[in-house]
Amino acid sequence: MLAGLRRLEYRGYDSAGIAVVDGGAVDFRKKAGKIANLAADLEANPLPVSSTAIGHTRWATHGPPTDANSHPHVVKRAAVVHNGIIENFAVLRAGLEKEGEQFLSETDSEVAAHLLERELSSGSNLVQAMRDVVSQLEGAFTLVAVDAQDPDRIVAARRNSPLVVGVGDGEYFLASDVAAFIEHTRDAIELGQDQVVELTPEGVHVTGFDGSPAKTRDFHIDWDLAAAEKQGYDWFMRKEIFEQPKAVSDTLLGRLNERGELMLDELHISPEVLRRVNKIVIVACGTAFYAGLVAKYAIEHWTRIPCEVELASEFRYRDPIIDPMTLVVTISQSGETADTLMAIRHAREQQAKVIAICNTNGATIPRESDAVIYTHAGPEIGVASTKGFTTQVVACYLLGLYLAQVRGMKYGDEIGAILTELDAMPAHMQWVLDNRQPVLDLAEELKDAPSVLFLGRHVGYPVALEGALKLKELAYIHAEGFAAGELKHGPIALVSKGLPMFVVVPPPGRDQLRDKVISNIAEVRARGARTIVLAEAGDDDARANADTFLELPKVSTLLQPLVSTVPLQIFACELATLLGHDVDQPRNLAKSVTVE
Ligand code: G6P
Repeated sequence: MLAGLRRLEYRGYDSAGIAVVDGGAVDFRKKAGKIANLAADLEANPLPVSSTAIGHTRWATHGPPTDANSHPHVVKRAAVVHNGIIENFAVLRAGLEKEGEQFLSETDSEVAAHLLERELSSGSNLVQAMRDVVSQLEGAFTLVAVDAQDPDRIVAARRNSPLVVGVGDGEYFLASDVAAFIEHTRDAIELGQDQVVELTPEGVHVTGFDGSPAKTRDFHIDWDLAAAEKQGYDWFMRKEIFEQPKAVSDTLLGRLNERGELMLDELHISPEVLRRVNKIVIVACGTAFYAGLVAKYAIEHWTRIPCEVELASEFRYRDPIIDPMTLVVTISQSGETADTLMAIRHAREQQAKVIAICNTNGATIPRESDAVIYTHAGPEIGVASTKGFTTQVVACYLLGLYLAQVRGMKYGDEIGAILTELDAMPAHMQWVLDNRQPVLDLAEELKDAPSVLFLGRHVGYPVALEGALKLKELAYIHAEGFAAGELKHGPIALVSKGLPMFVVVPPPGRDQLRDKVISNIAEVRARGARTIVLAEAGDDDARANADTFLELPKVSTLLQPLVSTVPLQIFACELATLLGHDVDQPRNLAKSVTVE
């Protein structure tokens, strides 16, 4: 159980707990802080041996991370863990308190434990009790529960929060993510929305909330335990940075048919429908949103279809103009981000077609979309996304090229030429990784900097935003990304003597884009900034304006983000390490944010 929780710790690491069923009672341990605290407690006060257990790692929503607010919540014979937010918990809690129930925590989750216990003591079995409880709840939840008087059964229910079943040899698992049970089995069952699942020694039984027979999908996990381990690296994030050449190459693999045409197998939207599309809206959060911003430049250029990029958390609340001719592209590494999921539902209600770009088989977002293009990055465990980002950019580019192909916007040889360039990217990324020493030196030199700015133009602009985000989330220092041309309209006032400024310079040859960026570097340098310039090897004009010059391989403008992001990832990882931060689990964050 502890090993499983450790593999899920990246999803939330404020507190953790475990409950087991033993001899007609529930016994449990729960502790604020990382799982190590729980492990130490279990070492000192072991739980009895049991074959039925539930556990949880928390990312606090209601109530701070304390022992009492940790899960499981145990009320007499019932123990419950919860992921999500029960939106009507205040009303339910007031009602229960009026009837004499005593609450021990400030969480929304504890109401579920009280409600379940009442159903059980009034004679319902665990499955029936769970159905009755979920019928009273509003919001997003995965609930997993045990009953002390029914020791061979675990029952779970899900609405808008993740849950998968692992099917082992004589053993069964439930988890938010397959990583939790990958050590024991690679066979899994994807559950649908509003389903109740029951695990007993006899097997797995899934029904709808109303008890009706349920549809599920079996799948095999295409990576193994080794992929979910650090393999000698100090951080998952560092390992994932170094995995990028392979992740990009795996994402490109097998995309051409025997006629040399681009094929996207998982794309179950007909070419006729794609030919009618008159607008693309990319919706995502965090780093995935920046991948979308990069993709806009390529998709519009290759397809001539207007493409908007929108934060998922803003999308549905502004009543966007979406119709059946709109193609909505959602990008999500985890496939579980609640904001993105809600955006998909909104888009589909407006009859738009939705394509998900996702890294996680069995996740909710691909399941609820019309089509999916999987990135084949393998599990990403470091909270700050790295290989997720670069493979998302590649998948978006494949989609853009595919749209250009089916709409006749590009000839086969033109698409072939770009695919050949894409195929060369893993080697270029490897070169950047192998030549990282100047970035490591820079991190050492800048570790006391109170603020760092990032500039870019065209596709370099989202790269600047991503560089700043990485530094904020890992090093907790002020960092901002700006469009280089916009600087003079305000942010240049921030520039003072010695302020470190990273500038991403586009390759020469694209209009006057590069020249303009070089002028922007001169402008900030004239005002005392310490310039760190990322530009193509041999770009002497860029070098002349650089206090530190970071060489990039020679690639075309649209593909440059795949190499220019890598030094910024390494910089943030290195600097945070030097500052003594937990790079894989930065404060206040969680990897998979399943609440809105
Ligand atoms: C969280 C993570 C970010 C990630 C974002 C979107 O905020 O900390 O690293 O970019 O969610 O996640 P997704 O799984 O949808 O790509």
